[in-house]
Amino acid sequence: MKSIVIYFSLTGNTKKVAKAVYQGMREQSDQCDIATVKETDVGRLTEYDLIVLGSPVWGGVPLNVRLFFNAAPSLKGKHAAAFCTHGILPESFFPQAIELLEKKGLIIIGMNDWYGSVFRPTLPKPYFTDGHPDETDLKEAEAFGREMVELSRRIYAGETHLIPTFPEMPTPPPSNLPKPRPTLIKEKCGFPKCRLCVDNCPMEDIDLSASPPRFARNCTSCFFCEMICPRGAIHIDYEARAKASLERVEEIFLKRLEQAEAEGRFRRLVPLENVDQKTPYYKVFNKHPRYVIPKD
Ligand SMILES: Cc1cc2nc3c(=O)[nH]c(=O)nc-3n(C[C@H](O)[C@H](O)[C@H](O)COP(=O)(O)O)c2cc1C
Repeated sequence: MKSIVIYFSLTGNTKKVAKAVYQGMREQSDQCDIATVKETDVGRLTEYDLIVLGSPVWGGVPLNVRLFFNAAPSLKGKHAAAFCTHGILPESFFPQAIELLEKKGLIIIGMNDWYGSVFRPTLPKPYFTDGHPDETDLKEAEAFGREMVELSRRIYAGETHLIPTFPEMPTPPPSNLPKPRPTLIKEKCGFPKCRLCVDNCPMEDIDLSASPPRFARNCTSCFFCEMICPRGAIHIDYEARAKASLERVEEIFLKRLEQAEAEGRFRRLVPLENVDQKTPYYKVFNKHPRYVIPKD
């Protein structure tokens, strides 16, 4: 049986979990690969019997991941599992992931999710879920990997009653937060010597050689280009977005997290009093770059 963990990760949480899931899968099977969405030729997914998709939650499945799977050939009858890392509102992910995978004929045999640290310029830092995924999460992820390979093998061997059914999951309405666009301050920009934003845009659609320079047409509002720019050459007016985001913290996030904690679904690693709920990250950390991509 051949399997693959295929993932997208902007700030490293999903990557850590993906590696742990892969580690677990490797314990059950030596025919196992791991790759990012970006480095994978989608046509090659037909080589695998089990495809495990890992992704952050971006108000659902990020657009780049959806476009990747939409381009896949039919994978009818093969097995899939999906996992995500998220801040406080993961529920938009699974209905979309199920639809995406089932559209390709995949049989979904498992799903899971883990909390992750959050780097959003318009939200507080430290954030409520920072510190995740930790060692405990990664141990769980390894177990999930082992379980998926074992389950897939048994289902292929004829135990089709083991195929799980998932309850109806309605997709929550989109957040309708303001979506400020990036603009370039040409005098500060180091392109073409510096290509950080071009090379790290999840939509792979920043063209600074165009006149005028162009940011992604289907911008996902991840704000990564602005965060990683070492010279502060990308301007995004975060104010309206931050105001609306912080209102959601007060109205939705705090209660949701409290409930998850009470139900044992969330282990708080950052004490609540350490989170400045009134101040967005971009105001506290106003040096550039706001985020440094780890070397590994
Ligand atoms: C563009 C964007 C949208 C996000 N939307 C959500 C969301 O709807 N719900 C949520 O719980 N977390 C959301 N987050 C937080 C991420 O899901 C979380 O930080 C995740 O662990 C990041 O994974 P990564 O480090 O692998 O990129 C969002 C983050 C970004 C950058």
